[in-house]
Amino acid sequence: MKLRRRQFLHLAAGAAALPAISRTARAQAYPARPMTMIVPYAAGGPTDTIARIMAERMRTSLGQVVLVENVTGAAGTIGVGRVARAAPDGYTISIGHWGTHVVNGAIYEFPYHVFNDFEPVSLIASNPQLIVSRKDLPANNLQEMIAWLKANSVKATQGTAGHGSASHVSGVYLQSITGASFQFVPYRGAGPAMQDLVAGQIDIMIDQAANSLPQLRAGTIKGYAVTDKVRLAAAPELPTVDEAGLPGLHILLWHALWMPKRTPTEIIDKLNAAVVDALADANVRTRLAELGQDIPPREQQNPQALAAYHKAEIEKWWPILKAANIKGE
Ligand code: MLT
Repeated sequence: MKLRRRQFLHLAAGAAALPAISRTARAQAYPARPMTMIVPYAAGGPTDTIARIMAERMRTSLGQVVLVENVTGAAGTIGVGRVARAAPDGYTISIGHWGTHVVNGAIYEFPYHVFNDFEPVSLIASNPQLIVSRKDLPANNLQEMIAWLKANSVKATQGTAGHGSASHVSGVYLQSITGASFQFVPYRGAGPAMQDLVAGQIDIMIDQAANSLPQLRAGTIKGYAVTDKVRLAAAPELPTVDEAGLPGLHILLWHALWMPKRTPTEIIDKLNAAVVDALADANVRTRLAELGQDIPPREQQNPQALAAYHKAEIEKWWPILKAANIKGE
């Protein structure tokens, strides 16, 4: 059957539009099944805790379960890499932070780019780090802790969430501004490191508030300072590093959500709306505040604000990190 030219062109146009139509149809039907949020660190740590609080509430807005899967190793690069390679269909979400999406890009070689290979969804919250030690470390303030480190430099240890993780970078920073030296003990996340700190197997951590605060409140570890210019509302008794005599050790860890590059805008918008809903939820806000999390204002809870902040953080920290010559393993 010989098609007239116009009929043929008409059919061809229709066929060409099919992917766009199915893409839009898919985006409109999204989400049609459960999604997976990849946590690049061990269960029980700060990123896992924040992921589970968000996933639980986002389910209400999305009408589908958001499963949390821990894919650990190499300071988070393995879990984030899983999302970089995932289909841009809206069903694989990356939760990450300053460590995974800024620091790692400066110190690790891996087959994805921490900015270019992801679609930003939204910032979630930020928290300073806490300088903490095992309960029986013989020091009552930050200066005594630094003196103890210097007096025990051969055996002193700092637990980290992996080589090149935010906690490791902060440790290198602490060494460079105090002259103290100590060994780094890498774990698959801050959660398992904290278990060993509570057990007295390691001496200190420079750790996210979300991970240390519950232990600090339980009296199972000691706290010395927060790595910020202002005190933490959730732990007003802890001095800032400036007040404790270590000016300038300011490290803020911010968490955010991303999706694989080329995920349709309609899908990003739906997921962003679910994040905004969750961050407006009173119960979520209370739980995040108890974990020392500072939620960004509403006007910063959008993909464009995350992209701008992420880019600025890369431009600020990459020169510093590269100059420090910290290499990922
Ligand atoms: C974790 O969840 O273990 C942390 O985000 C790791 C880190 O602090 O870099």
